Amino acid sequence: MSGAHHYNPDDPPVLEVEDLSVDIKVPAGTLHAVNKVSFSVRPGETLSLVGESGCGKSITSLAIMRLLPKAARLSASKIIFDGQDLAALSEKQMARLRGNRIGMIFQDPMTSLNPVYRIGDQLEEIYLRHKGGGRREARERAEYLLEKIGIINPTQRLTQFPHQLSGGLRQRMMIAMMLMCDPKLIIADEPTTALDVTVQVQILQLLRSLQEEFRMALILITHNLGVVARMADHVAVMYAGQVVEKGSSADVFRHPTHPYTRGLLECIPHPGQSATRNKLGSIPGIVPSLVGRIDGCTFRNRCNYAFGDCATAQVGLRDVEDGHSYRCLLPPETFAAGKLEKA
Ligand SMILES: Nc1ncnc2c1ncn2[C@@H]1O[C@H](COP(=O)(O)OP(=O)(O)O)[C@@H](O)[C@H]1O
Ligand code: SF4
Ligand SMILES: [Mg+2]
Repeated sequence: MSGAHHYNPDDPPVLEVEDLSVDIKVPAGTLHAVNKVSFSVRPGETLSLVGESGCGKSITSLAIMRLLPKAARLSASKIIFDGQDLAALSEKQMARLRGNRIGMIFQDPMTSLNPVYRIGDQLEEIYLRHKGGGRREARERAEYLLEKIGIINPTQRLTQFPHQLSGGLRQRMMIAMMLMCDPKLIIADEPTTALDVTVQVQILQLLRSLQEEFRMALILITHNLGVVARMADHVAVMYAGQVVEKGSSADVFRHPTHPYTRGLLECIPHPGQSATRNKLGSIPGIVPSLVGRIDGCTFRNRCNYAFGDCATAQVGLRDVEDGHSYRCLLPPETFAAGKLEKA
């Protein structure tokens, strides 16, 4: 399990999201990509959003950043970042926040690095744009950060172009770029998925130690449960646009309760197997269409426990224990230890 708790549970959250929904207009109708998702994350804390491809992880993070596709409509009762209501910010204010107080890391660093500029110039540019200091100061910070992220010979590296770097090094540069402005929150969407396993581990360890040092909150999006186990303080398991289980990762791994979570955990390979096989999605069946009205439990076509009401009832979150909840009509006793074989 993770070396968790670099955060103080009494600190106010850096980000608080309540009932976030995103609907996307598609030719067939309205696609409910994200459906009333709520979570919060504190300074120094790592929250993992985990789930199969298409369950709404990326749209959730893009909604927070207000980087949604044009056809998408966002609603939320709360998106509070550092005491500020993000929904109330103008586009200009929002642009000032992005890459400055909220840093983002994506799966493919080339989406954020500009191929025609030297790394050093790109790092400095970010700093000058957001912090407004001088070029010398920017260069010093860039060199300092490159050393921090374990890059040998930083002065020379800063003169290189993105294509001259390996995938792992590029992702390190992305991390340095994000750190130029001292963000309070990092949103990392599958930051290591494209990398070799050994490099993945290095990058995750790096993120973890930087996060601890700079006391940043981290939202780590992944479909890899091994990554969650290694990194997360809290976890929100997403399915079909909803959070179906959430809690501390210790609680969720110890007492997985939603049939979907239990299915996922059964798919975790045993020690010795390659970490790339920690992929989700080996539960029989597919995610239902999210277009049009959704009634009942979205997991029912894959659930061994499904019964009549699951097709029609409103399924809310219920508690397993303090701070650990799941979305299902059945009580937690149904899923007590020893009954795992049924799921
Ligand atoms: N630009 C888009 N236009 C229409 N539908 C989209 C778009 N982006 C994502 N979606 C849909 O929204 C849902 C959630 O997608 P996404 O957040 O990307 O999933 P994840 O990141 O968990 O793999 C999926 O059904 C996906 O097909
Ligand atoms: S509500 Fe019904 S279908 Fe959904 S997870 Fe619970 S038992 Fe399964
Ligand atoms: Mg995604």
